[in-house]
Amino acid sequence: MQANTKGKEIKVDKYHMIVSRTDTKGIIEYANSNFIEISGYGISELVGKPHNIVRHPDMPAIIFKLMWQRIQSGQDIFAVVKNLAKNGDYYWVTTKFEIKKHPFTNQVNGYVAYRQGALEHVIDTMSKLYTDLLAIEKTNGMDASEKYLLEFLASKNMTYDQYIEHLTGSSSIFKSLLSKMANLFH
Ligand SMILES: Cc1cc2nc3c(=O)[nH]c(=O)nc-3n(C[C@H](O)[C@H](O)[C@H](O)COP(=O)(O)O)c2cc1C
Repeated sequence: MQANTKGKEIKVDKYHMIVSRTDTKGIIEYANSNFIEISGYGISELVGKPHNIVRHPDMPAIIFKLMWQRIQSGQDIFAVVKNLAKNGDYYWVTTKFEIKKHPFTNQVNGYVAYRQGALEHVIDTMSKLYTDLLAIEKTNGMDASEKYLLEFLASKNMTYDQYIEHLTGSSSIFKSLLSKMANLFH
């Protein structure tokens, strides 16, 4: 199956961190100016909306299932995501999803996503994997795409985000930006 070819790719500046924060249900509470610029939405069109507003139809559902399972179990996760801009263009990002806890109660009260433009070789690898996963999902459902993904990862002897970290390993700019920003979005 061919990937969706509508829209053109927006190149993301590697020094621009694209940040959003949601409540525990994935409703957007905050988006930074880079998010607003690249998505093409105004802040008032984003806040209060479900985060799937930027979901690209080329993204297999299994990746979001995995991401939600991980953050709902209290762990952060790295994922590579293709996002849809308001005008139909798209951009690939490596994303760190982090859980956020209330400073006094220590209860999880939301999630933050920090995104950086994905490297070319990461886009190449992940777009092939996602095209396969989406095709399987469309014909045989998400259980089948999950099985395919788990077998693929088992053959690499890695979890999904170990695989992402392995692919993006050289991108230390992302890690240093992440550590600087980590405390800004409680
Ligand atoms: C903090 C946070 C950031 C998210 N960022 C994105 C994103 O950039 N793109 C995206 O497609 N989904 C993102 N999601 C996942 C969406 O909430 C949603 O699960 C996904 O788009 C799949 O849509 P669906 O749940 O309607 O199938 C994010 C979720 C959270 C909690």
